Amino acid sequence: MGSTINIFFGLFICLSLAQITILTSAKVYVVYMGGNDSDDPDDILTKNHEMLVSVHSGSVEEAHASHLYSYKHGFRGFAAKLTDDQALHIAKMPEVVSVFENKRRSLHTTHSWDFIGLVGEETMEIPGFSTKDQVNVIIGFIDTGIWPESESFSDVDMPPVPAGWKGKCQSGEEFNISHCNRKLIGARYYLSGYEAENQNSEFDDDPKNKKTFRSPRDSNGHGTHTASTAAGRYVSDMNYKGLARGGARGGAPMARVAVYKTCWDSGCYDADLLAAFDDAVRDGVHIVSLSLGPDAPQGDYFSDAISIGSFHAVSRGISVVSSVGNEGAKGSATNLAPWIITVAATSIDREFTADLEMGNGVTLKGESLSVLQMGAPARIISASIANGGYFTPYQSSYCLESSLNYTKTRGKVLLCRHAERSSESKVRKSEVVKEAGGIGMILIDENVDVAIPFVIPAAIVGKKVGNRILSYINKTRRPSSRIYASEAVLGSKPAPRVASFSSKGPNGLTPEILKPDVAAPGLNILAAWSPAIGQKMKYNILSGTSMACPHVTGIVALIKAVHPTWSPSAIKSAIMTTASSFDKAGKPMRVDPEGRRGNPFDYGSGFVDPTTVLNPGLVYDSTTVDYKAFLCSIGYDQKSLRLITRDNTTCENLPTSSPSSLNYPSIVIPYLKSNFSVTRTLTYVGNSDKKTIFRAMVAPPHGVEVDIVPRSLVFDGYGRKMSFTATFRFSGPTRGYVFGWLQWRSEKVRVSAPLVVRAMPFDMGLGE
Ligand SMILES: *[C@@H]1O[C@H](CO)[C@@H](O)[C@H](O)[C@H]1NC(C)=O
Ligand SMILES: *[C@@H]1O[C@H](CO)[C@@H](O)[C@H](O)[C@H]1NC(C)=O
Ligand SMILES: *[C@@H]1O[C@H](CO)[C@@H](O)[C@H](O)[C@H]1NC(C)=O
Ligand SMILES: *[C@@H]1O[C@H](CO)[C@@H](O)[C@H](O)[C@H]1NC(C)=O
Ligand SMILES: *[C@@H]1O[C@H](CO)[C@@H](O)[C@H](O)[C@H]1NC(C)=O
Ligand SMILES: *[C@@H]1O[C@H](CO)[C@@H](O)[C@H](O)[C@H]1NC(C)=O
Repeated sequence: MGSTINIFFGLFICLSLAQITILTSAKVYVVYMGGNDSDDPDDILTKNHEMLVSVHSGSVEEAHASHLYSYKHGFRGFAAKLTDDQALHIAKMPEVVSVFENKRRSLHTTHSWDFIGLVGEETMEIPGFSTKDQVNVIIGFIDTGIWPESESFSDVDMPPVPAGWKGKCQSGEEFNISHCNRKLIGARYYLSGYEAENQNSEFDDDPKNKKTFRSPRDSNGHGTHTASTAAGRYVSDMNYKGLARGGARGGAPMARVAVYKTCWDSGCYDADLLAAFDDAVRDGVHIVSLSLGPDAPQGDYFSDAISIGSFHAVSRGISVVSSVGNEGAKGSATNLAPWIITVAATSIDREFTADLEMGNGVTLKGESLSVLQMGAPARIISASIANGGYFTPYQSSYCLESSLNYTKTRGKVLLCRHAERSSESKVRKSEVVKEAGGIGMILIDENVDVAIPFVIPAAIVGKKVGNRILSYINKTRRPSSRIYASEAVLGSKPAPRVASFSSKGPNGLTPEILKPDVAAPGLNILAAWSPAIGQKMKYNILSGTSMACPHVTGIVALIKAVHPTWSPSAIKSAIMTTASSFDKAGKPMRVDPEGRRGNPFDYGSGFVDPTTVLNPGLVYDSTTVDYKAFLCSIGYDQKSLRLITRDNTTCENLPTSSPSSLNYPSIVIPYLKSNFSVTRTLTYVGNSDKKTIFRAMVAPPHGVEVDIVPRSLVFDGYGRKMSFTATFRFSGPTRGYVFGWLQWRSEKVRVSAPLVVRAMPFDMGLGE
């Protein structure tokens, strides 16, 4: 039986895609079967096929035609085209943890059709540490592929590929084995899950005549951008159309890059994502970086490819870094699993602004990436009076498609609006104005932080400046304006600020786990790009938590280089406990667009500080057993957990009773009644052999008393562990979430953790 199936499996490879699509009523499902235990990969394949044959009424041919992937290295499972009934049948089989549809995930770039903009000039020479061993660190990027000719991936002066690397360079359209080198050491691509969902695939006629490659080559730019941000080589003259000119490099420029192209223009599918994780684990990467995720609200941990793939990667010592999402709103955070490092986006201290000179002599500033400028002042009008056809003034005030009348618009500067949180392209609005004969545009939008590459002289202003311009237009007989080219401006506003689009906590799935974990630059980031598209640029400026994620990936690579034995959770702890919630001026970090004071739901532990991550003093470490206890505490049943971890521990013999008790570098108590205690364990990772004393300092959340016992901890050597208990109790009335922090201080280091508490609704802790 087994051998028959194996013979057929060989044949399957020869079947054409057309034959697979015969199963029209079927959908692609992912069948997740937990850890791979010690089974031989071939046996796993055989078992998967036996399962498929059994739901296809014994038809071996149909079983093979329905099969997309088998996952057998990092974890067990498969992806296949199944009817709902077949999926239900498989879900009841004893070895199966979960069966879920092949959902689409999105890249976490804002306005992905709008290229946007700034700098990644992080110089990460860290005093007192040598990071030369980063040449041994391999980062796997699950993204849109790579542009291998980019200078950012040159292998000049790089030593041979690390021994033990099992990855490969998969050839395909305009990509062959010679495109890999000592920098780009692996490249694979995955499209079965994507093609099964997209009958009219992007490989067919593309309306914009855009090139797409059936290979690891990047036709989108996103993957090239993220990989070069984390690990790009130094490029001496990186710039965007002459803006932000200068030398730039990634965080760990000598680390190795392995590419897993899983995302296509329309998104990334679960079946493909899991195949990429499965290969990355086997290939031997040390870090997986994914600037993508589900839309909020995220599904449960074992019905989500990223949560599953990352769980098994982290269980094998591979760090996984991901972006929190770009939905901006409270509670919209994604990539919520505690084993992932989830990153929020902030600004840096550089902006792109254009001068707007008004006819009354006043010069205002707007945000823009347009390098075009007007030669002379021109008449400025509100777009609402330029309405054409059947469009109302209200509609045309948003400069919607075809809403403008050429006669009224020609030769003028238009003042247009952008609806809050709308997904309309701002670049497109500048095209609409241009097509209607306009020669400039000022766009009123609360999100002034993201710079946009408009096609005419144009800039974005906030509501306040917008109203000033409106009132100038109203009060003046012949109002005029002249828009100048954008310039990069350093240090103009407090920085960093949390970007308005960056998704916020609380965690919608497990409120006891704080998300995001940390914040990093993600606004107007300049990095390498794919010249396959648009204006054929080698570098581009983009914004999104997608751009923040690889900044942290680069820092993880540096930590791995210096501390190769640290676990993923120790590395994560080092990044979190050294982060800062203050901006560079020493003031509490603010949040765009309104400039309100930030809190841990905006930035987690704070803005990453690469200068202190290598010496965090203490870490909050956790292991797979701790994650298992966490999963028990949120109600996963014994049977699933045994399959996931493939061991014999039961929930009863694991200590954790509340998800707040996971040894996490932040503490959230979302339902505080009268009092609640959590215990945390710290591990000393400093370099002193003598006794090192750490003392607790607490800034309690408003209306909450926090007792730390003991108040001081003495460590007498590397790797020593000490526990403490934090008890939370109401000291006065509170409403909603309140925030504070706990810091362990020695003479040399500070180990900070945010504290987040919310009173149980309708129970202010005033007694029962
Ligand atoms: C999973 O399979 C790999 C071989 O692909 C093996 O090296 C590894 O030990 C297996 N994992 C477990 C938990 O047994
Ligand atoms: C790979 O592609 C390059 C150019 O794209 C070409 O010069 C080279 O001969 C190819 N190598 C192989 C092994 O096909
Ligand atoms: C555009 O405006 C002109 C002048 O006000 C008017 O005569 C014309 O009918 C308008 N055209 C459209 C398509 O609205
Ligand atoms: C400008 O005038 C229009 C009516 O012509 C009015 O609706 C609007 O509120 C005025 N705006 C300002 C800022 O004065
Ligand atoms: C689990 O328990 C069974 C029986 O008690 C034993 O044979 C097996 O080796 C155990 N497996 C592991 C991974 O500990
Ligand atoms: C904590 O609350 C429990 C009831 O939930 C109460 O019995 C106990 O005395 C409280 N402990 C302290 C130290 O306040």
